[in-house]
Formats: sequence, C-alpha cells, structure tokens
Amino acid sequence: MFEKLYRKRVLILFIFLTNVSYSQNIDEKVEKLLSQMTLTEKIGQMNQYNGFWNFTGPQPISGDSKKKYDQLKKGLVGSMLNVRGTENVKEVQRIAVEESRLGIPLLFGFDVIHGYKTQSPIPLAESASWDIKAIERSARLAALEASAAGLNWTFAPMVDISRDSRWGRVMEGAGEDPFLGSMIASARVRGFQGNDLSKSNTILACAKHFAGYGYVEAGRDYNTTEISLNTLHNVVLPPFKAAANSGVGTFMNSFNDLNGIPSTADKFLQRDILKGLWEFKGFVVSDWGSIREMMDHGFAPDRTEAGKLAILGGSDMDMESSIYIEELEGLVNSGKISIDYIDDAVRRILRAKYLLGLFDDPYRYIDSDREEKIIGSKEILEGALDIAKKSIVLLKNENNLLPLKKQGQKIALIGPLVADKNSPLGNWSIAADKGSAISVLEAMRKYKRNDLIYKQGVRLINKVPDGFHEQVSINNDDRGGIEEAVMAAKDAEIVIMVLGEYGYQSGEGRSRAKLNFPGLQQELLERIREVNKNIVLVVMSGRPLILNWADENIPAIVQAWHLGTQSGHAISEILYGDYNPSGKLTMSFPRSVGQMPLYYSRKSTGRPGADGEDQGSVFWSHYQDEKNTPLYPFGYGLSYTKFDYSQIKLSSSKMSSDETIYAEITVTNTGRVKGREVVQMYIHDRYASATRPIRELKGFQIIELDPDESITVTFEIDKSLLEFFSANNRWEAEPGDFDIYIGTNSDTDIKAGFVLND
Ligand code: BGC
Repeated sequence: MFEKLYRKRVLILFIFLTNVSYSQNIDEKVEKLLSQMTLTEKIGQMNQYNGFWNFTGPQPISGDSKKKYDQLKKGLVGSMLNVRGTENVKEVQRIAVEESRLGIPLLFGFDVIHGYKTQSPIPLAESASWDIKAIERSARLAALEASAAGLNWTFAPMVDISRDSRWGRVMEGAGEDPFLGSMIASARVRGFQGNDLSKSNTILACAKHFAGYGYVEAGRDYNTTEISLNTLHNVVLPPFKAAANSGVGTFMNSFNDLNGIPSTADKFLQRDILKGLWEFKGFVVSDWGSIREMMDHGFAPDRTEAGKLAILGGSDMDMESSIYIEELEGLVNSGKISIDYIDDAVRRILRAKYLLGLFDDPYRYIDSDREEKIIGSKEILEGALDIAKKSIVLLKNENNLLPLKKQGQKIALIGPLVADKNSPLGNWSIAADKGSAISVLEAMRKYKRNDLIYKQGVRLINKVPDGFHEQVSINNDDRGGIEEAVMAAKDAEIVIMVLGEYGYQSGEGRSRAKLNFPGLQQELLERIREVNKNIVLVVMSGRPLILNWADENIPAIVQAWHLGTQSGHAISEILYGDYNPSGKLTMSFPRSVGQMPLYYSRKSTGRPGADGEDQGSVFWSHYQDEKNTPLYPFGYGLSYTKFDYSQIKLSSSKMSSDETIYAEITVTNTGRVKGREVVQMYIHDRYASATRPIRELKGFQIIELDPDESITVTFEIDKSLLEFFSANNRWEAEPGDFDIYIGTNSDTDIKAGFVLND
C-alpha cells in the first residue's frame, strides 16, 4: 500500500519536474529567438490578418493584398484567421517559414464554435445537455476535424454569461449561470486542447469575449455595458477564471466598453486580473478590429493613440485593424511606450507556438490524408448525433401525446423548417457545406413507420442568405401555402409543426427586439390549431423565444434549437421515443420581452411578492401586465417518464468553515420507461455583507433510472461552495444561515437549512 503510494508520488514528482523543465526549456527558446528579432519583426508577431487571397487561384498583384503578402514574407504577420484546408494553410505557412528571415511559423485561427465542417448543436443547445463529458467530447471531435483541416487555433469557447435573449450571441454560450458556465468552459477547453497541445489533433482554445459582452445594454450587439464589481466577480468572470485554470492558451477581448473603458484597453481586466491575479501565461487577441473601434467609442482620437491604449491595456495581438503593425514601432521609438510591453506580448505569442510544436514541425497539421479521413467521418457524425439528442428539451407533453406511435399514425409535417437543411446548421457554421444538415423530413421518412405527408405552409425567408454576412429577409406577406397545409392537417391524426428561427437569425449582429416566431409562422400555427388540436410543436431557434400562446394551446412542445448536421435524426429519435428527452434549459424562457434581462438567480428586493398574487397594494416589485416569473425556468425540462423526489436529508444542520456536510435526496423513476434526470442543487445565503441571489446552482448530477428504480444522490457542501465576492472585495464565505434546495429545476421547493459557524 505504502509502496504504491510512494510510487505514485514519485511519478507525480517526475511529471511535475518534467513539466517544469519542459516549460523552462520553452522559455529559454523563446528568449533566444526574441534576442534575434528586430523591433519590426517582434511587432509582426503581434499582427493577425484575415485570409487575403485564394491560394488555389492566382496570387495577388495589387492593392492591400499585395501589401499583406509582402508583409508575410518580411515576417510581419504572426497569425492568420480564416485560412483553412490543408492546401491553403500549407501554402501560407510555407511563405512564413521558408521566405521570411527568421522563419517563424504562423498560427491559423478559425471560429470552430460548434464543429468545423460537421456541425454539432449550437453551444447553447449543448449546454442544455448538462452533460460535461459529452460537451468535452464534442469539443474534442471539433478539434479533430479542425486540426485535420490544417488549423491550430479556435476562437472558442465563448464563455459570456447571457441573460437577455434579445442578444443574438446567446446561441454561442452556455446560458445564464456562472456555475454551470464555468464547468462547461473548462470542459470545452479540455476538449479542444486535450492534454498535450503539441499533438497534431489538438488545437489552442480561446476564452472570449473578455469581458462583459453578454451584458450589452438592451440586448443590442456591440452596445455599452455597465457592470458592478459585485456582478463582475460573482457572475461574469467565473467562467473565464475556470478557462484560465484549465490552461486555456488564449483569451479574446470584446467589442464593448465596460464601465466606460473599451475592454480592448482595459488594464484592470487584462493586466490586473487576467495576467496579474490569475497569472495567465497565454496571450490576448483583440476582437476583429476592436483596437480601431476605440476611435468610434470616443476613447482614442487617432490610430496611434488606439495602438498605445491597447498595448498598455494588455492586448497582445491585433486582429485585423493593422494598427499595431503601423503604429507600435513609432510609439516605441519615440519613447511613448516601453519595449518591455512588446517583449512581453511577443514572448506570450511565441510560447504558444512552441507549445503547439510548430517550431519542431510547422507543417504538423498539414496532412491531406488525415484531412480526407477525419472530416465527416463516422466517429464525428456519431458524436454529433449523440450530443444533439442530449441537447433537446421537452417543454410540454400533455396526455402523453409524445412519443409517437411507431406505426399506424397518419402524420402531417407542417412548417417552413420541416425540410430546411440549412437552418439546423445554425450560425458559425462557415466551413459546413450548404444544405448539409439532415432535415426533420428526411429523417422521419427514413423511419418509414407512419403515413407521412409534408406541407411547408409558409416560407420563412424569401431567399437563402449568402451565409454569415447577409441580412435574412423574412417572408411577411406570402400566405400562398396556408390553405393546403390546413387541408393536410384536417386529415391527419397528429400534426408535427417545425417552426422557429432561420439559422442565421441568431448569432453575431442578430439582436432581436421581438422574440416571437418570425414572419407568418404564428398565423400558420393558429390556423392549423383550428382544425387539429393534436399538434407537436418542434421549435428550432438560437435563443429562447416567447412561447406563451403555444404553451396555452398546443399539447406538446419540443425545444430543438439548431442542432447541427444530425439535427433531423436527433429530433426523430426523440419524437419516436427511441431517445427519452433529458435536456434542461440553461436560459430562462421569458413570457414577454419586457422581462429582460431574465434569470433565476435574481436578488430579492425590499418589496418582494408572490408572483401573480394580489399584494393588496401596488407598491411591490412587479409588472401590471405580466408575471415576474419565466414561462419555463432555468433547469427545466421534461422526460417521457416521471421522477419523484424525497425530502432532503442533511448530515448536519451546522458546519464550521473547515467541515463538510452532505445533502442526500432519493429520486425514484415512477413512470414506465427508463430515463435520465439532472438532479440540481441550489444554495441561498440568507444574509450577507452584500445581498445574495435568492438561490444559486451549486451542484448537479446526472442519473439514469429504470422504471421503479430509486437512487440516493449525495451532494458535498463545503466552504468553497459558499464563497462569493463580498462587500469586503474578496472571495469569502460569511458565517450565517443558508437554505439548500434540491430538485428537478431551479423552481424546486424541496428545501432544508443549515448554519455556517465561524
Ligand atoms: C467575433 C469573434 C470572432 C471574430 C473572428 C468577431 O466579429 O466577435 O467572436 O472570433 O470575429 O471571426
């Protein structure tokens, strides 16, 4: 026993020492290279360009492209983004390595947000699986594909906490909660980076957008943010900290100004917190043109000042504004900034390149056979299907309308998204082939178990947009197909309607002030409901939509997000009951836009009141015309079976700060099929030096139960779970009374209490 322990310790010591010497080794190499670099070459490493010509076509001869091409040869580019595919990457890397004086290899970055060519569900959907292992695996598979395409850096994960579904970028994150968000941030970093960055199938990850971008005012993208120190530390920063603790190689800052300072120049965030307090050793890349945008913010009067503010503020690499490459040299030579800032940034960038093993072999990601074999392989497709099923959330299922019978039902499939092979790919699917998602129609036809009829009803969009940049044009007047759809519905036993947002209606630059079904879809839904009440509504969207009418009038509702390449198969398996829904919402679903921002872990007010109850006066915190509560709360999601919860058993009702207590609860599957449940634990600090949320997620476990089976789930509670950034400006657990809630969603009223003693 002792011998075993001893051997383990020796092994740990060996690994530790090897790591220390490995990184010392890298540091030495970095220093050596740095000493050979001219100031101009150093600044070149801090410059990142977008892909600027098509390498399979003629080389550029004029204008900006020619200039960039020359800079590449002169070693004045440190990284490229959006150059992908082994052939293209190889050609650009060749120029950097073989034609520049020092031959420093380039980093190749790309937005691998939910897959490269094969799309997994959008990140918000994946978060609804709450399945940390599956999320890590999904990122791992994305890294496999992306690295096979020659890439070595992804601009993911986005870890912005988002509580306002008007903001289109909620689709890219893990929802509203910092505890879950932190676990997912770490999982995604582990998935992308693996345990050895120098392997050719792992890539650098990037925690973004640092920081506060999810709090843009009024949910309007790129807008101002104002966040108190309390909220910043307790809510916004934890997922970034988790990513940093998990060894994320890079950070990206954000477009917004935070409390008056553009994040790109925010010393407090980037130097004091990230590189100081958290001892982050990687580098920070600006967001696209965000150094230049500081002029539009009214923060920097000109490009020179913008460059100066950004480098002083801790931005190491300039994405696409060319300000560093044009301005930094002059700033150093005129003594306005010290060379130390440049050296620090370059060290960080070179270190990342060494960690990736690019100096040993700059072409290590270039293997066209691997590219051919890995991209779209069976393993990747199966992984995408697995997480797609786990991401779906069953919102309503009156009278067990679902699952569908496997035979003998006459089913009408109606709606503009039934046959859509683009929307399920979601935003940030730049490398995916157009129309490569499995539609619901295709997948349901494969089942061939029922008599199916399909009618579109109404078009959602007027024209398929040309990808990422084009505004989506919504059909608001062509009702041509409605009557035909109504006829089909009349004739069917069950109608499955697939409605929601087009794939590019959420994501960057896609804020919405209305959160209803766009276009004529609501009208279609109501017309169909007049002739057939047996409707299963499948909602595809990149954000929570307002589903009040559907909730009142439609018996079954399935939230199916944008689930990626395997979307149709995943939805069909759910509809037919071959997979029992297990997803749980990670953003509260609103009743009205006026409730935004909406989140479960709100503070109490001095005038709280039970929702919807007459308080006997008007003077309490409420709306005259809407409830305070969401339509579906955080953590909510149904199953085809039922789970009963016992009361909570606490091992003790008191603990001191060096003790641990245990909370136990027994969950029983009282339904007829096997099911997965996410058992959630929330804690409320009743009184504190700064007011605390009414409850906060502090633990969860996924269990799987056969019918009639029970499992006792145990949660460990120690001081670390009770800590928060207090009024004393530090993380601490304050003695006092705590409530603990355990249950099936954030609204659970199964409760116990304990005291933390001094
Ligand atoms: C986005 C980033 C993205 C970058 C590069 C920006 O517009 O805000 O999230 O990584 O573009 O594509």
